[in-house]
Amino acid sequence: MTALTLSSSSAAGLRADAVVVGVAKGPKGRAVPAPGAEAVDEAFGGKLGAVLEALGASGGEGEVTKLPAPDGLKASLVVAVGLGAAPEKGAAYDTEALRRAAGSAARALAGTKKAAFALPLDVADDTAAVAEGALLGAYAFNSYRDGGTAGTDAAGDGKGAGGAKGGKAGKTGKNKANGAGVKAPLAEIALVGGKRDKAHRAAAERATVLAAEVNRARDLVNTPSNDLDPTGFAAAAQQAGKEHGFKVAVTDEKALAKGGFGGLLGVGQGSQTPPRLVRLEHRHPKAKQTIALVGKGITYDSGGISLKPAGHNETMKCDMSGAAAVLAAVAAAARLELPVNVTGWLALAENMPSGSATRPGDVLRMYSGKTVEVLNTDAEGRLVLADALTKASEEKPDYMVDVATLTGAMVLALGNRTFGIMANDDAFRTRIHVLAEAAGEQSWPMPMPPELKKGMESPIADIANMGERMGSGLVAGLFLEEFVGDGITWAHLDIAGPAFNTSGPFGYTPKGGTGSAVRTLVAIAEQAAHGDLA
Ligand code: BES
Ligand code: MN
Ligand code: ZN
Repeated sequence: MTALTLSSSSAAGLRADAVVVGVAKGPKGRAVPAPGAEAVDEAFGGKLGAVLEALGASGGEGEVTKLPAPDGLKASLVVAVGLGAAPEKGAAYDTEALRRAAGSAARALAGTKKAAFALPLDVADDTAAVAEGALLGAYAFNSYRDGGTAGTDAAGDGKGAGGAKGGKAGKTGKNKANGAGVKAPLAEIALVGGKRDKAHRAAAERATVLAAEVNRARDLVNTPSNDLDPTGFAAAAQQAGKEHGFKVAVTDEKALAKGGFGGLLGVGQGSQTPPRLVRLEHRHPKAKQTIALVGKGITYDSGGISLKPAGHNETMKCDMSGAAAVLAAVAAAARLELPVNVTGWLALAENMPSGSATRPGDVLRMYSGKTVEVLNTDAEGRLVLADALTKASEEKPDYMVDVATLTGAMVLALGNRTFGIMANDDAFRTRIHVLAEAAGEQSWPMPMPPELKKGMESPIADIANMGERMGSGLVAGLFLEEFVGDGITWAHLDIAGPAFNTSGPFGYTPKGGTGSAVRTLVAIAEQAAHGDLA
């Protein structure tokens, strides 16, 4: 993983391959070098803004301009990233603009060894944002390419993600991943020109853990289903627990059968690879509250007998993104030693059609004792989550949050970058929305209209796993609520849109697995540690 340091060197004096500066949109459309760029501007004879304008730069968000460094800088390349509108005098730069700019710069520097980031770093929040954005932008999933960097090992088996053959890391200097032009991520990030006091150091450390865990989730999501099945996912969780000191307990298919986990077993029974329920636990002696995080972990969603048509299944390795986010968030809580108890539940299964698969029309007896008529085997996420929610509820957590790539309807409603939040408590739902925003994740509160429950009535079972087509993202949330223990404050995050980026990369977000919801879950845990969640 990319290394990050707070350097005492100046932007001009640091031995690096490139220097990153910010450029803001000033009055009258001028490109204005942002705070932190002073030394670089000086090396340009005070003409950095003019040079950038001559090159067509305007300081817009996402804009990246590369220019050769003049004499006076140790680096040979200057990368100017747009920060959007310059803030009013004395005001701070927008946190997300800083994160995204740092991420765009890091992506533009893939294949480079070391870069100095001379962006605005006045307050610890700036340092946090730049560090986080840069580390999240410096991500690549190259495990499956000849001579891939082998920097990832999602399966935790030491073979590289899913056992793909890993080659040697790139040579220093150019830092190429291989001869085929696949670039390794920027290897070293030095933040220059900022303070290095306790607050800034703590911000950088938190950002480093957070980014490492978001990148863990991305690796898991990107690993193809032939190399990451429920058993492999459980093994990866055990490996992470060992490494970072949290407890991991795996329930295998025999124990699931004995326990009556009809949802997990019903979804998993068509697959050659059996389901698992994994319990993670981070505990802290000073903890006053306990939160339970529950993740949908469908390692591949073919739809089952209600098979998805071509065009709808190519990205369905991403259907375990919720479980990946939960694992990453618990690991982050452990690494940050948050004074809160966090339990994580991974509901792992592969949804496949076969002679042993659940048929549309079958009735499952769930762990809660409720019976469910499975009208559509492609509505499988709610079935595995139901069992995990019931199980998690037995421990009576103060708060429970599930995360799932649950419905295409949520993607239709909110698009590819925003997750939906539903909850049995309006204040809790609002709280999560606000925390997500501050963490740099787009989300929107969604309702739980009680009249949609009627559509889930079954003529033979307690409930069906489908309801009305209109509002079917909300129907899914209403189904889950049936399995939440009495008196537990609960929220459901439907990350089907933002979990997997099928368009081009932007800011610090790569193509493929994004690590959606990890930062929001960590923010929720931190808030609970302060004792003022909801
Ligand atoms: N995993 C899918 C939802 C999904 C869709 C995730 C697109 C990511 C991108 C889920 O299991 C599913 O198939 N949901 C169905 C439910 C329907 C059958 C009630 C859907 O949304 O169509
Ligand atoms: Mn499905
Ligand atoms: Zn699914």
